[in-house]
Amino acid sequence: MKALILSGGRGTRLRPITHTSAKQLVPIANKPILFYALEAIAEAQIREVGIVVGETKLEIQEAVGDGGRWGLRVSYIEQEAPLGLAHAVKIAGVFLGDDPFVMYLGDNLVKDGIRSLVAEFKQLQPNSQILLAKVRDPQRFGVAELRNGRVVSLEEKPPNPKSDLALVGVYMFDKTIFEAVHAIKPSSRGELEITDAIQYLIDKGYRVHPHVISGWWKDTGKLEDMLEANRIMLEAITSRVEGEVDEASQIIGKVIVEEGANIVASAIRGPVIIGKRCRIINSYIGPFTSIYHDTLVQNSEIEHSIILDHSRITDIGGRLEDSLIGKSVEVFRSDGKPRAYRLMLGDSSQVGLV
Ligand code: TTP
Repeated sequence: MKALILSGGRGTRLRPITHTSAKQLVPIANKPILFYALEAIAEAQIREVGIVVGETKLEIQEAVGDGGRWGLRVSYIEQEAPLGLAHAVKIAGVFLGDDPFVMYLGDNLVKDGIRSLVAEFKQLQPNSQILLAKVRDPQRFGVAELRNGRVVSLEEKPPNPKSDLALVGVYMFDKTIFEAVHAIKPSSRGELEITDAIQYLIDKGYRVHPHVISGWWKDTGKLEDMLEANRIMLEAITSRVEGEVDEASQIIGKVIVEEGANIVASAIRGPVIIGKRCRIINSYIGPFTSIYHDTLVQNSEIEHSIILDHSRITDIGGRLEDSLIGKSVEVFRSDGKPRAYRLMLGDSSQVGLV
């Protein structure tokens, strides 16, 4: 069995972060989202992994390498443009050969891993196994309609969903999926949809086995979902202090302070993770915050946020909340006259002022 991870895409919902970087590399509890997928695949005893990449190919290759760190053999498959999930399968034909495979969306997180799901697929040997989860807002997802435990229809982001069962971003297929991805046509949004490919399998009488999962899962395609994923992953951390915390600082609850980080005259209320070589000075870092490596926070308060590496947040006065801050970002108070907000923001940035 092989694995195919999809790490191309446009990432329009996470602009401006995705103007310059891969969303699959945004760290959740200081670990890139994509690494959770690689870990889950390794844990399911799969060794051969193909990663579909687009514009952010180099960054992803640099982060993952040959996969040896996870005991995996990783190859990269270039997709010329984000032409759909089924298109990604189509171009991976040479890599996949006739082997059954797991397709894993690189921006999805499945907290309990996929080991038992892969075992179920191997045991039942359907042509495809899809994972479903009950959601409150099915119109945002691919939605499955079941009858007597069988999948009868699938629809991509339907305005009037026939059920509340959303497709989770992990699918299993045998080689019959290639017949489907070659037969279907692009949808109205110009993509080859995986829902159409699976619908093809159903219509042709192939066996599509639904598995409704009860554990936590998230598609981290937009800001609120990233923050929720960060919250859930931080809840599971075990405290560890490898950096330095001075006497004037207070650490409360579950907190990780990574190597080389320095906490000075600050209050850290977990669950929080502070990355390598960060400096937190005279500040408050509140629950559900992840601060990635080499970032400085001084005379500032942050809660429920993800801050990426090499950023500087200083003297901001108010509290930063529910925020995702990119790499090498500076947020500071300026004393220059006239008193005014001075901004340099990338395309599609969002700023909420009080
Ligand atoms: P999506 O989140 O559905 O699409 P997107 O990344 O283009 O984002 P947005 O809707 O915000 O513009 O994609 C799910 C995953 O699949 C994600 O990791 C990107 C990847 N993907 C590809 O690799 N190739 C593709 O053609 C598409 C559409 C997605």
